[in-house]
Amino acid sequence: MNTAIYPGSFDPVTYGHLDIIERSAQMTDHLIVGVLKNNMKDPMFTVEERLEMLREETRRYANVEILTFEGLLADFARECGARVVVRGLRAVTDFEYELQMAQTNRKLTPELDTIFLATDLRYAYLSSSIVKEVAYWHGDISAFVTPYVAGRIREKV
Ligand code: COA
Repeated sequence: MNTAIYPGSFDPVTYGHLDIIERSAQMTDHLIVGVLKNNMKDPMFTVEERLEMLREETRRYANVEILTFEGLLADFARECGARVVVRGLRAVTDFEYELQMAQTNRKLTPELDTIFLATDLRYAYLSSSIVKEVAYWHGDISAFVTPYVAGRIREKV
């Protein structure tokens, strides 16, 4: 079985992430969305809450599994038997960091390749922090996240 991993912090999941999940799930037998535990960032949602939101928003895809991981992505990929990491590229500014990560991961686990999907133009400017900031100031976030996730964010702010 061909397994791929889409890693991130997903604090919270946005339409930009969901677009990458939908497209990459069509390219692989099994897509694992890997939620990083203990990120350095100060999160709005606990890991469990992020998992809940991702599971809710991806339940229609039979081949998508939501898991958490701690430590190195390269180790997690090896444990899952995944040969491919999926990342979305929003703009050229993402590229340098992404290339460095892909090359480091390949050095750590030589059979691990990273594929990049060009983020849909509708979401090219989007990030989880931007969504949280707009929500904090009571702006309209309906173009960025699903109604369910928007409700969860509103509970927090
Ligand atoms: N649509 C919308 N937003 C997107 C997006 C897309 N297609 N792609 C990325 N983003 C946003 C994310 O929401 C995130 O927003 P935020 O910074 O406001 O929270 C931002 O862009 C950065 O996302 P990303 O680059 O995916 O970072 P991340 O922190 O979510 O995840 C990991 C990074 C988990 C992949 C990486 O840190 C990792 O692998 N860590 C494990 C440790 C490790 O192995 N380190 C060595 C690697 S070389």
